[in-house]
Amino acid sequence: MKTRKIISLVAVICVVLMAAVSGVFGAEYDHEVKVKKMSFGWKIAGDTLAVKMSAETEGWVGIGFNPSKKMKDANFVLGYVKKGEAKIIDEYGDSPTKHSSDKKLGGTTDATLVGGTEEGGITTIEFTMPLNSTDKYDPAIDINGDTVVLLAYGPGRDSFKTKHKYRTALKVNLSTGASEAVKK
Ligand code: HEM
Repeated sequence: MKTRKIISLVAVICVVLMAAVSGVFGAEYDHEVKVKKMSFGWKIAGDTLAVKMSAETEGWVGIGFNPSKKMKDANFVLGYVKKGEAKIIDEYGDSPTKHSSDKKLGGTTDATLVGGTEEGGITTIEFTMPLNSTDKYDPAIDINGDTVVLLAYGPGRDSFKTKHKYRTALKVNLSTGASEAVKK
């Protein structure tokens, strides 16, 4: 009986240790920025950026990197969860107020979906993307310099066509995690 108890205890300890190592307890992302009802978490792994974006919406959540003017030239990734299934799209800001699919513009889809949830009115999308893809519709990211990060989410409908309910722009150093609002 005593031996069985010890074996059970050892098993529980092993599971807890494995869970901790695999990041189940929330250590998967190295940095996080919170704005209003939205958050952006990320981790740099070699030449890949792993992103977790979350917002108080049942519609889309989106992120954009390095626009030249408003939304123009930014590399966007938008995602939503519909009937339990997450979907993302890789877009490019082809005007200050519009974005189109990289693929449609003649480029490639470079963001890879990791997963997504919609729980309690909060949509969370996780994906990875190369820091320097070969697609001209993905401007290169310098992790040690300033990266302008656009964050936005749509109203509660699973459609990428709806305009944002909330949007903001931040200046972020992706290596250190330092961030500040972009002043106008
Ligand atoms: C889904 C379709 C989208 C539509 C139809 C759309 C449309 C627009 C329009 C018309 C404006 C200019 C007017 C205004 O300031 O409200 C704008 C600005 C802006 N959008 Fe979008 N947008 C979309 C997606 C996104 C996404 C995914 C992001 C970021 C992740 C974003 C970030 C921004 C920001 C930061 C501005 C303000 C830029 C500035 O004033 O400097 N938008 N958008």
